[in-house]
Amino acid sequence: MALERTLAIVKPDAVARGVLGEAIVAAERAGLRVVAIRRLHMTKRQAEGFYAVHRERPFFDALTSFMSEGPSVVMVLEGEDAIATWRRLLGATNPVEAEEGTLRKRFGTSIERNAFHGSDAPETAAFEIGYMFPGLDLA
Ligand code: RTP
Ligand code: MG
Repeated sequence: MALERTLAIVKPDAVARGVLGEAIVAAERAGLRVVAIRRLHMTKRQAEGFYAVHRERPFFDALTSFMSEGPSVVMVLEGEDAIATWRRLLGATNPVEAEEGTLRKRFGTSIERNAFHGSDAPETAAFEIGYMFPGLDLA
């Protein structure tokens, strides 16, 4: 077990539905703490930079259009095994395949409009936290 930080995003579909609180409740019940939070309406360019690893994928244009269609809430979550813990709470990428009770099962509506994001490894977490919170100096 390691104390980690991960980047969570409440995507535009979930912000529009007003379920930010559900994400925070789930995180806190799993022992994760919110150590930074901001709301932003990503530009298409910002979304393209954030998801640059997927730029060759067929869904890249649709994904970055979705991520820039309205405001998101981005958070840094901290705790033991925060990366895997948060992804376990999210469930599978496709809400249809996500386990009962997971955040994507409850609030996602398609493989693309899946309501929440979580970093998938320590290296991507470091990149994503820096991308969304430049210059962040956490105590
Ligand atoms: P995320 O990065 O958002 O936490 O999701 P993930 O790791 O579970 O999935 P990833 O493979 O990284 O895909 C990133 C996001 O792209 C959209 N997607 N659309 N149409 C499609 O086949 C497709 N596949 C992925 C989803 O919004 C996914 O979360
Ligand atoms: Mg991913």
